[in-house]
Amino acid sequence: MSKQSPVDQNPTAPLPAGSTGSMPGPGVVPLFAPPPADRPRRRYAVAGTGHRAGMYVDALTGEHADVGELVAWLDPNPGRIDYYDAQVGRALGGDAPAGLPRYTPADLERMISEQAVDTVIVTSVDRTHAELVDRSLRAGADVVVEKPLTTDAAGCRRITRAVADTGRDVVMTFNYRYAPRNSTLRQVIADGAIGEVTSVHFEWVLDTMHGADYFRRWHREKSNSGGLLVHKASHHFDLVNWWIDDVPVRVYASGALRFYGDANAAARGMGPRPERGTGVTGDPFSLDLRDDPRLEALYLQAEHHDGYRRDQDPFAPGITIEDNMSVLVDYSRGATLTYSLNAHSPWEGYRVSVNGTLGRAELRVVERGHVDFHGDHLLDPSATPEQATEDLVRPDGHRLVVQKHWRRAEEVPIPEGIGGHGGGDAILLKDVFRRDLRLGPDPLARAAGYLDGVRAVAVGVAANESLLTGQPVLVEDLELGVPLAGDRTGTGAPGDRPAEV
Ligand SMILES: NC(=O)c1ccc[n+]([C@@H]2O[C@H](COP(=O)([O-])OP(=O)(O)OC[C@H]3O[C@@H](n4cnc5c(N)ncnc54)[C@H](O)[C@@H]3O)[C@@H](O)[C@H]2O)c1
Repeated sequence: MSKQSPVDQNPTAPLPAGSTGSMPGPGVVPLFAPPPADRPRRRYAVAGTGHRAGMYVDALTGEHADVGELVAWLDPNPGRIDYYDAQVGRALGGDAPAGLPRYTPADLERMISEQAVDTVIVTSVDRTHAELVDRSLRAGADVVVEKPLTTDAAGCRRITRAVADTGRDVVMTFNYRYAPRNSTLRQVIADGAIGEVTSVHFEWVLDTMHGADYFRRWHREKSNSGGLLVHKASHHFDLVNWWIDDVPVRVYASGALRFYGDANAAARGMGPRPERGTGVTGDPFSLDLRDDPRLEALYLQAEHHDGYRRDQDPFAPGITIEDNMSVLVDYSRGATLTYSLNAHSPWEGYRVSVNGTLGRAELRVVERGHVDFHGDHLLDPSATPEQATEDLVRPDGHRLVVQKHWRRAEEVPIPEGIGGHGGGDAILLKDVFRRDLRLGPDPLARAAGYLDGVRAVAVGVAANESLLTGQPVLVEDLELGVPLAGDRTGTGAPGDRPAEV
């Protein structure tokens, strides 16, 4: 890798064009009232100080510092806490670390009480989400949790029980909803432009730069991540649930590890592989942590604390997740989703086709048309678009087309966004930190709560069960602790409530 990564996305992910935009389209960014002058700032603790935490740390030391403050860290790895504590120190204008109180996971309750934490931001390894959410709620804090809400049915039950028992607030940060192209598709469907939705066809491809990364990190073990059907596809299943405003009822899945992993490498005669990427040159599947100062500081220099290697070889033994996945989902009002996810594509992006009784909507997105491999290192053309020559066959970009019966296809303009993840992260953060100040409800209903999180992981959890049994799985048989149909609009996210100022 040649670029220094933005902090709001996986460092191997394509850099979206929207991240350079400064003039968002109308309606994309909700309007907020200023905070009342005498209102105390909300007190936030970050649980899980890895890569993703950076987005929230930036927000609370920058744009949203007037409404929230960081008061504590929680992570088993003190090296990663050091990294962010130093960053906050610099943001406060000094050379010294901020010296915020730090805790290990066992002391979560003590942290919440000693530091009077209002909200715990959960940005830890997926398998730990359910426990951290449950314990935080019971200790008297609200929660902001990264996707996936949890990795299995037991985690869903644990969280839904804690929400029911405490009545506290859980915000799911489904940033993909906020990408203007995804919001615009929701608007097209909600406006009735294609009638009643009858089926959705959704294909997502991850390229060998970003896709391979899931096979280097903790994600490679299903017990940590739920596999890509939960970890990655919960974004996608949430989008479909939200686009068509429906809930999944039955799931069938097929998939396997067919590209990464030691057995596939041996079968393709790849020969001996390096154990880790750092120190390796000339191999397109190796990630050298020293090429990115942030990766080096967060992981290489923190390795001696917990032994975690972020640069494992994607062809090393021990992978228990799939890299090719196909899923069939029946929805409660009768629509069917056909979904596929591939993690070793030469380009990255997605294609969605939504069939309705009046016509069809098609969204095509190319996030990175190709990855260059120049003899000794990978080059990401999306990181330096000004230097890249235009790809005439697969240019980066997006296009939303709607075609009604007996009419020509029409392109629907997609407004510009702000921030990473297709222009969604910065808008999401406004909703996370200022949602009680929002002027009026969001017509796109983008704010998500725990129930949306359960609905999204329900598909992946059912798909994992289907992979094991070879049979279709009824979502209700998973006993997730809450009826998925529930409240269609009130997702539990207070962002849906207008400001009272
Ligand atoms: N919405 C998005 O687009 C997006 C992007 C990246 C990551 N994420 C999510 O953010 C979360 C973190 O991902 P990441 O890329 O930062 O991973 P990471 O490996 O960089 O960080 C995870 C952190 O969790 C810590 N941890 C492990 N066990 C813990 C425990 N019991 N309690 C508290 N902390 C613990 C680790 O030490 C590490 O610092 C994941 O759930 C991931 O799905 C979301």
